[in-house]
Amino acid sequence: SLIKCVYINFLCQEAAIIKLTNVVCESYDKSWIVVNNCRLRAISRNRTVYNLNITLLHSCSNILVNVQVFKRANGYKPWLFNFTMDACKFQRKSYNPTAILMYNAIKDFANMNHTCPYVGDQIIEGFYLRPELVRLPLPTGDYLVSGDWILNNKKRLVVSLYGSFIEDF
Ligand SMILES: *[C@@H]1O[C@H](CO)[C@@H](O)[C@H](O)[C@H]1NC(C)=O
Ligand SMILES: *[C@@H]1O[C@H](CO)[C@@H](O)[C@H](O)[C@H]1NC(C)=O
Ligand SMILES: *[C@@H]1O[C@H](CO)[C@@H](O)[C@H](O)[C@H]1NC(C)=O
Ligand SMILES: *[C@@H]1O[C@H](CO)[C@@H](O)[C@H](O)[C@H]1NC(C)=O
Repeated sequence: SLIKCVYINFLCQEAAIIKLTNVVCESYDKSWIVVNNCRLRAISRNRTVYNLNITLLHSCSNILVNVQVFKRANGYKPWLFNFTMDACKFQRKSYNPTAILMYNAIKDFANMNHTCPYVGDQIIEGFYLRPELVRLPLPTGDYLVSGDWILNNKKRLVVSLYGSFIEDF
């Protein structure tokens, strides 16, 4: 069905169901990052949105993010993507196609759409995955997208998003 999906892309997107199932945020250093809110909220029978509110207590222009994607099969196993990028460089000039895809999915819901430095409340409100943005036909399954945020050379925050993708032909 992966091949079918490539050729009948429109149908594929019509038929696909993407569901956020869980989120976990953990600050490793509360003198740097406070997690005020990190939660999924069901707003209708078929839509769950993600709200994030974290406070960055120091102004920071040295931010790396390591994004790893896992797919469930007897526990979550590494799947396809594992990359680290410089968030400040990315804001000046987007360069990683996977990161651009992820950023485009989230930027309309976030207040982090500016160049460095970052400080204070970082907000994502009402985020959901718009199927039209998911150009890659994914195999049906449960996924975990995990982001480790490395600020001034130390891992300070991990944000984990769990979701399911269901192809429905
Ligand atoms: C989701 O629910 C809304 C109403 O709550 C409905 O208009 C819409 O068609 C539904 N979408 C899907 C994909 O089922
Ligand atoms: C984010 O959390 C802070 C601290 O609780 C609060 O002052 C602020 O109003 C919140 N922002 C939003 C947009 O909810
Ligand atoms: C993913 O990349 C990070 C940073 O390079 C590395 O520490 C980690 O071990 C990698 N994960 C896997 C599953 O290979
Ligand atoms: C960032 O988002 C806000 C609110 O959506 C918008 O008003 C602003 O123009 C955006 N800034 C940039 C640089 O895209």
